[in-house]
Parts: sequence; C-alpha cells; structure tokens
Amino acid sequence: MKVAVGNDHAGYRIRQVVLEWLMERGHEVLDFGSASPESVDYPDHVHPVAEAVKRGDAEVGILVCGTGQGVSMTANKHQEIRAALCWIPEIASLSRSHNDANILCLPGRYVEENVAKDILDAFFSTEFEGGRHERRIRKLPVPSRP
Ligand code: RB5
Repeated sequence: MKVAVGNDHAGYRIRQVVLEWLMERGHEVLDFGSASPESVDYPDHVHPVAEAVKRGDAEVGILVCGTGQGVSMTANKHQEIRAALCWIPEIASLSRSHNDANILCLPGRYVEENVAKDILDAFFSTEFEGGRHERRIRKLPVPSRP
C-alpha cells in the first residue's frame, strides 16, 4: 500500500515506530513528516498528507502530533478526509469498519510504542463495513440549506 506519513516534533518518537512498522510490511511511504525533534508547526506537515490522500497518491495517511488533536483537526478541514484520532486498537478498528477512516491520527505523547503497533495492526487489517455506515458517511458534509 502507498501510505502518506506526517508528524510534528511531538510525534517524532512514534513516527519512528510507524515508519519501521510500514517498511517491515513492504508498504511504500510518502514521508511529509518532520525527521527531527526540533519544534515545527503541525499543519505544515498535515496538509501535504491530506492532499496526497485526496489525489490518490496515497491510499491512507498516518499523522502524529503530541495529542493527535491538532493533526486530526487540520486533516478534517479537507472535505474528502476522514481522519480518526485513535489511542486504543478497538477505536482504530471501528474507525475503519464504521467510519471508513482514510487517515489514522496518533497521540504521540500519550501512546506506548507497543500500543501504537497494535493500533496500526487494527487499522490496516479492518475493512469498511458499508451498509448503514455508508449512508451515514454520505451525510458528513455540511448540508446546504435553502
Ligand atoms: C506541540 O507542543 C503540540 O501542541 C502538538 O504536537 C499537538 O499536540 C497539537 O495538537
């Protein structure tokens, strides 16, 4: 799979775990993240990931900041993006099966490395269920009112 990755300084530690996990499994990485613990602004590393997913250059994205909040808020500004903040594997799995999440967001300062790997396992191994969830996803855009 082609996977776009982005992170800020607070996501640097878990970024390393993510890159290793992806490479071990033969995924192709588009790296838009910061490769250093020096302070940066997370939106600068999120928009390129969202754009890559929107264009289809990447099938999914993975974003990491300190809490996961900033990266998920930024990514979800993009109409076609469904970015899910996940801190346990079950939520990652449900973000795929119910929400068809196309970007996984991790809280780099609040997730242990083994848990991050379990979250990645869950996210990548779960398919979207469709059905009623498809109907709900179609209702995500802000409705236009007369
Ligand atoms: C950086 O200190 C921190 O604010 C950032 O990584 C993120 O948690 C923002 O939502």
